[in-house]
Amino acid sequence: MVSEFAYDKVVYPSFVFPYIRPSKFGAIARLHGIDVGAIDRCRVLEIGCGDGANLMSIAYAMPDADCVGFDLSGERIEEAKDGAREVGISNASFYEMDLMEFDPGTFGKFDFIIAHGFYSWVPGEVRESMLAIYKNCLTPKGIGYISYNTLPGWHFRRFARDAMRFQSSLIEDPLEKVDAGIRFLRFIAGSLPPEAALRPFIEEETVSIENAHPSSTYHDDLADVNHPFYFEEFVAGIEKAGLRFLAESEPVSNFLGRFPRTTQDALNELWHDYLRREQYIDFLRMRKFRSSLVCHLECEPSYRVEPAALDTLYVASKVRPIDDGIVLTDDSVATYQGPFESEFELNHPLVKTALNILARSHPAPMRFDKLIEELRARFADQAPGVHAAGLTVTRAYFVELINSNAVEIFCFESPLMSSVLNDHPKISGFARWQAGRGAGVVNGLYGAAVKVTDEETRELIGLADGTRDTSGIISELSRTLGDHEEGRFEDFVRSNLELFRSSGLLIK
Ligand SMILES: C[S@@+](CC[C@H](N)C(=O)[O-])C[C@H]1O[C@@H](n2cnc3c(N)ncnc32)[C@H](O)[C@@H]1O
Repeated sequence: MVSEFAYDKVVYPSFVFPYIRPSKFGAIARLHGIDVGAIDRCRVLEIGCGDGANLMSIAYAMPDADCVGFDLSGERIEEAKDGAREVGISNASFYEMDLMEFDPGTFGKFDFIIAHGFYSWVPGEVRESMLAIYKNCLTPKGIGYISYNTLPGWHFRRFARDAMRFQSSLIEDPLEKVDAGIRFLRFIAGSLPPEAALRPFIEEETVSIENAHPSSTYHDDLADVNHPFYFEEFVAGIEKAGLRFLAESEPVSNFLGRFPRTTQDALNELWHDYLRREQYIDFLRMRKFRSSLVCHLECEPSYRVEPAALDTLYVASKVRPIDDGIVLTDDSVATYQGPFESEFELNHPLVKTALNILARSHPAPMRFDKLIEELRARFADQAPGVHAAGLTVTRAYFVELINSNAVEIFCFESPLMSSVLNDHPKISGFARWQAGRGAGVVNGLYGAAVKVTDEETRELIGLADGTRDTSGIISELSRTLGDHEEGRFEDFVRSNLELFRSSGLLIK
């Protein structure tokens, strides 16, 4: 009975995923030699879209795209419809539907099809029908996104799942089940001597489960169906359905920098057998989750990234040198603050200059060919040979910077985003809607996440709707929060508006 459906009973937490976006999929596809075509008018299908938040964020940022989402949970689909109505999104439609009843003839072709947190959690016949939808409904150069649990890393998670399911099998209440399962994992981890070889693995899984939302754990770890795949099994499954592996959706999964040089060399000898290379990487990383892009079997992607393809894309980066006053024009070494508190060094004058230009224009992405043009102009006095070689090296560096998450790529520029803080700051209607419904995170037009941990920030997001200037926002915030102390919110508002600007939350 529908009322007993697990996703109606326990609400799956709503997320927007910064890397699950057509503007990123299309960019990665182009780097691998596949051009989806006109991206601004693309059609997007999300299978198992839950409450639609992810698809709504895509539809909002791409006003000319046509987005369709469906889910078996009627309650989540009602929320999605209400949400789209409240934000004023007219280019996303949502349907309560079982995937097994999806009729390709009714919905037509899509440039992008997304199924996140789905493939591993549904029975084999649903997986097969899902792949048939990809095959039947993707346009000839269309891109599909499929995430799934992977072996061998998932072996450890399976241990945690089995232990939690065993301990909680007699408990009815979903969240009590999760609680009992976690306590049992803690008991196991705490019972092992510190030197026990398995202890760090069990500890790691326990901490990761403790940090997850309990409703996610209920569905992700305790559900009856949870099928992990070796990458090669996944590839065999999609090829049987007439599809081909294209690339991982998160470029950072190509980053080999943490492996010893000899391992990197061994992997780089495997370019002729790319699928084997990917499977090797999963063994080396003990990988437990993948989010893969797929295309039609008839497409022939080039697995090795072609740096020249960068010229058709947009790039954005906020990495900055740690010290002020670095010299851009020579090959002196500069240390940069990278993503996730990392640091890296660069000495190439063109690359240092390119990052400097991008940091200044951030959060607005910049066409890579325009960036190259600007470098040409700035280094015009170099001999032509040196110049051309420098630009080739710059492109190769950029592929590495993309793989290490220091540079983001897109194939679409949202027409709505404002990269400057204007007189009457206006936060995107989607982010204001997220804040208004109590979300702990709001997302910018390119997906960037900003945490909302206190009521002041939530109020501020609601007030920055383009009708007030900054002083008006400050006085309204003081009035709403019942604090009339002069200047109390001055710094708070100004620094947060700057954070919203740099996270791509402001619109024109
Ligand atoms: C783990 S949740 C993922 C939700 C969302 N994609 C996300 O990642 O946040 C899986 C979703 O798939 C939906 N679902 C499961 N089986 C389905 C089916 N046969 N047809 C349509 N939706 C289904 C569930 O209702 C649920 O919303």
